[in-house]
Amino acid sequence: MFSKQTVAPEVANPKDWSPTSWKEFPIKQLPTYPDKAELERVYRELKNNPPLITSWEIQALKDKLAEVASGEGFLLQGGDCAESFDGCESPKIVNLLKVLLQMSFILIHEMETPVVRVGRIAGQYAKPRSRDFEMVEGEKIHNYRGDLINSINPTREDRVPDPQRLLTGYNKAALTLNFLRALADEGFADLHHPEYWELDFMRENEYYKEYEEMVNSIQKAVSFMETITPNSFNTAQRVNIYTSHESLNLHYDSAQTRKVPRREGWFNLSAHMVWLGNRTRDLDGAHVEYLRGIRNPVGIKIGPNYDLDHTLKLINRLNPIHEQGKIVLISRFGKDEVEEGLPDLIRHIKHEGMPVVWSCDPMHGNTFATNDDFKTRNFDDIVSEIRKTFAIHRDQGSYLGGVHLELTGDNVTECVGGAKGLHEGELHNNYETYCDPRLNYQQSLEMAFLIAKEWKKSHA
Ligand code: PEP
Ligand code: CO
Repeated sequence: MFSKQTVAPEVANPKDWSPTSWKEFPIKQLPTYPDKAELERVYRELKNNPPLITSWEIQALKDKLAEVASGEGFLLQGGDCAESFDGCESPKIVNLLKVLLQMSFILIHEMETPVVRVGRIAGQYAKPRSRDFEMVEGEKIHNYRGDLINSINPTREDRVPDPQRLLTGYNKAALTLNFLRALADEGFADLHHPEYWELDFMRENEYYKEYEEMVNSIQKAVSFMETITPNSFNTAQRVNIYTSHESLNLHYDSAQTRKVPRREGWFNLSAHMVWLGNRTRDLDGAHVEYLRGIRNPVGIKIGPNYDLDHTLKLINRLNPIHEQGKIVLISRFGKDEVEEGLPDLIRHIKHEGMPVVWSCDPMHGNTFATNDDFKTRNFDDIVSEIRKTFAIHRDQGSYLGGVHLELTGDNVTECVGGAKGLHEGELHNNYETYCDPRLNYQQSLEMAFLIAKEWKKSHA
């Protein structure tokens, strides 16, 4: 079966670890940089740059996630599959923050529980790929691996891993974060008013009446607050938003991994939270080695065909002291496999007494290609995995504490379905993603309503 405790519980800050100890381990999904000297130079520069995030913000997120793990609160994590350097521009950032905030207001209002918002933003620039190379006009070239590594432009030269991109990534992340912080400080006053939300599209949906009631009720709550506490409501409305990315390019993450005064251990100061992808979970691989040494909350993606014993060892390796709020377990089985894969995992994690936040990524197990070769996802399949995941947790007496979504605040046409009934023939209209298909603004809001409905079923 499986072994308990693969690592002694007291090993919270392993002595045999350093931000670069991962270099001694086999690494997947990160190609070798041909220009070693340039990589070294860039690494040193990145290492000396000021941090993007502070350790106390990381600790604050961990404290909130600890509450979510114990059933108090809900994690809403979402954003682009792959951020692009070109996408670092005002409307895209504003729109993503706007949709995440609006979704969170729907969840808070409907579920009466705090919502922790984490963007896939300000660093989500590196992508795992199923193939290392692709053929372009008869030539075998490196696959695109995200702007942090190479260019999407399909030529041999542009696909060579370029160390300079680590610095550009840091700069773009800093610019994004700077703007996010300013917007969050201001509180986005308009967002409290659902009358400014673009909800008309919902009219075409069978649940429109329920949506309308929710919106009216949010409106009433807002006017009530504005009437009784006008000053504090309008001024103290700073909103919290945390950042996250897949910890994939370990040069980028390790250069920004630091010790800070008066706190124990090492912090990845490039994001509040990072996650381990489904393809880089090897126990003796470089990514696990790197992640076992940092104090940030760490997400772990778990997909079909996972090995139970391996997974328990992995969680133990990353959180040997069973720290609350440290691990977010993100299941991404797909609607057809979740009933097969998830229940056993929940039972064993419970049995081991491992404190985790359970989150559901209903995107990555439900991707398919259309006849015209558009990578897409069906809104109904996404909802179906969410429903099944809620039901499984309910049956197991466990708490589904979050969702992990690929979405954008823009009006893209990448996923089919939703209230507007977007169909395959419309995908080409505004298909912008650099990697996987995202929910658009309307589909995201509708998804928030549906998540709240499911959550309420589990808490009836
Ligand atoms: C992702 O989150 O974009 C991703 C690649 O997910 P996974 O590792 O679960 O396939
Ligand atoms: Co993706």
